Amino acid sequence: MSNTRVPGFYRLSPKERFDIVTEGRNLTDDQLKHLSGENPLSMDLADSMIENVIGQIGIPLGIATNFKINGKDMFIPMATEEPSVVAAASNAAKASYDHGGFFTSMSGTIMRGQIQVLNVADPYAAKAKIFEHKDEILAYCNVQDPTLVSLGGGAKDIEVHIIPTNSQIMLVIHLIVDTKDAMGANAVNTMAEAVSPTIETITGGKVVLKIISNLADLRLVRARAIFSTEALGGKEVVDNIVSAFEFADYDPYRATTHNKGIMNGISAVVLATGNDTRAVEAGAHAYASISGQYKSLTKWEINADGNLSGSIELPMAVGIVGGATKTHPVAQAALKLMGASSAEELAGCIAAAGLAQNAAALRALSAEGIQRGHMSLHARNLAVMAGAKKSDIDRIVAQAVKEKDLRYDRILEITKATQRGE
Ligand code: MEV
Repeated sequence: MSNTRVPGFYRLSPKERFDIVTEGRNLTDDQLKHLSGENPLSMDLADSMIENVIGQIGIPLGIATNFKINGKDMFIPMATEEPSVVAAASNAAKASYDHGGFFTSMSGTIMRGQIQVLNVADPYAAKAKIFEHKDEILAYCNVQDPTLVSLGGGAKDIEVHIIPTNSQIMLVIHLIVDTKDAMGANAVNTMAEAVSPTIETITGGKVVLKIISNLADLRLVRARAIFSTEALGGKEVVDNIVSAFEFADYDPYRATTHNKGIMNGISAVVLATGNDTRAVEAGAHAYASISGQYKSLTKWEINADGNLSGSIELPMAVGIVGGATKTHPVAQAALKLMGASSAEELAGCIAAAGLAQNAAALRALSAEGIQRGHMSLHARNLAVMAGAKKSDIDRIVAQAVKEKDLRYDRILEITKATQRGE
């Protein structure tokens, strides 16, 4: 397994970086071409993935370095349009590396499917009847997906919730389904739809909605890491990080931005691996407010050695089989490059990326602020727009940042002066 600590990785060319992260990963020639962008998604495939296709939008795919997860060095693929995200995750991961990196676990790979039953005259008796027929209901669900069952997954249990609303009492049945390495929406929705007539017969009610719940609270991923106080900038910065966490945990206005930063890391890996960003995001935000108040998804403490100890817990409904994880060739190649061999392992990597992203954001906010890093990236983009040669960009950016003048006009002047050899 390659060591993911690659000093100066950011200074290399895309091709040099590509060669480092793909070395020894056994990617096929086709996968290498998909990953590098040489073979983009074909129009035929794009047209079969969604409707009314007219083209595609390219999103840069970067690699976060320095990640050690459960003792294994892993390059983390991140697809994002936002500057600083990949660099920030890599920097934070570096501060955790010598403390063993990230340790992760998962509560299971279980999803809930909801079946809404209306017009039940006696919901409490109907609830009891549902449980009397539990084995039959589960068996009927499992007939729908023999492959999943052969892998040890399938419908395992049911719950019955009685929900009094303003206008009626609803009976809501939860199918508890182990979807293993799949995200599971297809399997769960198929089961919920197929079993609905049986539910109507048992309850005497009318089934309307039959759909997965994205609040995947039986599929919680947890990650933790120790970050070196020295690497983060010292005791004052680390104390400020803990205060920043408390701010988010007590104030929903701050928690929203704090969690947005976490999702910068999470969604980028979810997207790079062809998973459903909206499902993960909806689950994360719902889980952040499960106590009744929207709170931080992470916790930050100072451990007995005086280092920063971070942890994260959230639902993580991602898969490595099915959906775009299977059909999108870049997602397939990204998964292989990363070396995640199960949905559980992938979920752990995603949680680690979220935790690292939060560490980096809080560190920057607690110390110099985020604009310094953003300024040079912004200046770099403007220099490219101004037509600067690649070899001149660093000098132009350094000059603009020194002058604290990032107006396009000024960067254009500096670029022209550089081109005149001044
Ligand atoms: C920007 O995309 C993310 C941050 O705002 C997160 C945060 O404030 O914690 C920097």
